[in-house]
Amino acid sequence: MKYLGLVFLFVFSFNLSRAVEGMLIPTVLEAFESDMKAMGMKLSAKDIFDANNASIKDAIMHFGGGCTSELVSSKGLLLTNHHCGYSQINSHSTLENNILKNGFWAKTLNEELPNKGLSATRMVNIVDVTDRVLEGTEELSEVDAQRKIQANIARLKAEYSKDNHYDAEIKPFDFGNSYYLLLKETFLDVRLVGTPPNTIGKFGGDTDNWVWPRHTGDFAVFRVYAGQDNLPAEYSEDNKPYSPIHFLPISLKDKKDGDFTMVFGFPGRTEQHTISTELDYIINDLRPAQIRMRDESLAIINAAMRQSEYTTLQYASKQARIANAWKKWIGQIDGLKRANAVQLKQEYESNYLLQSETNDDWKQTYEAVVDQLVLLTEKYKDLDFAYNLFIEYTYVGAEFMKQARSLKSLIDALDEGKSEDEINELKQKLIGGAENFYKNYDPRVDKAIFEVQSELYRRYLATELLPNALLNQDLIKLSNNIFRKSILTDEKRWVKFIEKAGKSSPKKIRRDPGFVLFNQLDKIFHEKLLDGLRAYYGAKNALMKTYVKGKYEMFPEDKHWSDANGTLRVTYGKLEGSIPRDGMKYTPYTTLSGIIEKYNPGQEDFDLLPRMLDLYESKNYKGYDQDGELWICFTGSNHTTGGNSGSPVINAEGHLMGLNFDRSWESTMSDFLFDADRCRNITVDIRYVLWVIDVYGEAGHLIQEMKLIKN
Ligand code: ARG
Ligand code: GLU
Repeated sequence: MKYLGLVFLFVFSFNLSRAVEGMLIPTVLEAFESDMKAMGMKLSAKDIFDANNASIKDAIMHFGGGCTSELVSSKGLLLTNHHCGYSQINSHSTLENNILKNGFWAKTLNEELPNKGLSATRMVNIVDVTDRVLEGTEELSEVDAQRKIQANIARLKAEYSKDNHYDAEIKPFDFGNSYYLLLKETFLDVRLVGTPPNTIGKFGGDTDNWVWPRHTGDFAVFRVYAGQDNLPAEYSEDNKPYSPIHFLPISLKDKKDGDFTMVFGFPGRTEQHTISTELDYIINDLRPAQIRMRDESLAIINAAMRQSEYTTLQYASKQARIANAWKKWIGQIDGLKRANAVQLKQEYESNYLLQSETNDDWKQTYEAVVDQLVLLTEKYKDLDFAYNLFIEYTYVGAEFMKQARSLKSLIDALDEGKSEDEINELKQKLIGGAENFYKNYDPRVDKAIFEVQSELYRRYLATELLPNALLNQDLIKLSNNIFRKSILTDEKRWVKFIEKAGKSSPKKIRRDPGFVLFNQLDKIFHEKLLDGLRAYYGAKNALMKTYVKGKYEMFPEDKHWSDANGTLRVTYGKLEGSIPRDGMKYTPYTTLSGIIEKYNPGQEDFDLLPRMLDLYESKNYKGYDQDGELWICFTGSNHTTGGNSGSPVINAEGHLMGLNFDRSWESTMSDFLFDADRCRNITVDIRYVLWVIDVYGEAGHLIQEMKLIKN
């Protein structure tokens, strides 16, 4: 009997997912090398990350500070997601030359399109500098210790960026239990080389976003340019394609269930240590309100976009940004509820308490920390709520607030009596930015958003946190006033005001209904929110630092990893499907025939251009297929989050299998709680990417640049 149990256990665990939680700092990979090898990896930790020799990390670039991208040719060719390059693609699109709609492929280097403000950053080195950052802080009070830490950081940064063109940044990990130095090389000339049309790059749209099965060709092609010396340089016609230290070969090999996969990129933020009380507040109070605010804006934007192609161009990128988090949040709270996440956290916290009581030192340091965190959360959750909705209302809601915010700098400067030169410089900046802003601004859309959002904001916030303008006035009257008279809601009024701005302007603008409202909001933020928020986040960070330290110390057998914080990480797993719910199974890959199945002419999320249908009919796969099927996307058990978009999914040999771009609906909770059985990342297969470039886009010259590894 006992024997049988063992066999059963073996077979059972063999079938279980080997999804591995955690986003590893590349410098600690050696400790995981044998586990990774056991899962099939043929590389060494040094092949992946080596500060002194070429390694895979040299092919990975932080794209625009938000997404990930990877170099795939000796001439700086860079792949990332379509949705990562979306605002650039959007900005190059006009009604006459609509590359969102039709796609774009540069035939020569000369046709590649520059992108102001876009950068790509390589990690030169990552160094654990904890000891040196904390040096001399042992005996100090909290305040003095913080001061000492800042001084140590400044000194270290100067030391590491001396005599080179790199930037040094030092970030806290695990709430300041450790510190890492990140040495970076940032390229400033990144050009658009090619993009599929939206009907490929955004196929499935918001309907399919965060969902499996998926058929999105979510990729775009860029190129990094450098100066004559191959070093980063501002955009110039004379720049030449960057010659990288390493670029990823591309695997055209057949894939199968269970293949080793590794995702290398810049995950933005996870909050694995959130305590039960806070998670409960997020699930039941905060997220529902945030979702509701966005529901209302999205309904307005979506309707407007449906009515006109022009409005679609104006709002495509903004809509995608608002909708993305909105839909993720819905999936996230659904998953967290289903998984009983709050209860699981409570159980963990009870266990933590018990463990702390087994030893006097632990008892002293850790016994009270969870209770203190609970009290702190209770005390400040209303404030946190108000702050988060303030962000929704003034940063994600009506856009004239953005204009008010930038105008404030000029008004303050005038109030302070700054020099004429300084004033003129500010004015130029504001006038310069106006065209870009108003080009994509439809006051009718903004007015409707303002009205629904204001209504909700009034309902959600306590009276003492509401501006008078919202409290004492008929909302529609206020809105009519703002959109008829405010200089913020009309380009001509804006430019005229700024051009003429002088001593009397501060007085004048204080009669502008839009600015008045913004000013009141801003004042409330500074007078009634800011101090409390500082106190809250400061105290929370200090307690979390202790709480997490206790996890490392009291549970050394558990696997610990530092929350994502926008720094380079490795996660590994394998190509596999999942069983997200009882009676439901996700197979691990999708194919071209699924695109045709979803095809729904006239329905924007699932429309196709005729070329796709023709190519499907002719089965023109040009060898990019596997047994007669063209794979589109596949899932894997890699722990990823926002920021991992565009990350290379790398195989056992270090070759590119595809581009990570999403998670399945059931996985969106993984920012708080990772469930190995359910959490899957979604990747667009590199063979589909190449097929779109080569066959659909007829841009075979780009394929020539790449290094292909065939069966
Ligand atoms: N969900 C993916 C991510 O978080 C892709 C979003 C882009 N697509 C969209 N329909 N908004 O970025
Ligand atoms: N699409 C996400 C991004 O922009 C990645 C998906 C995720 O959050 O896992 O980074």
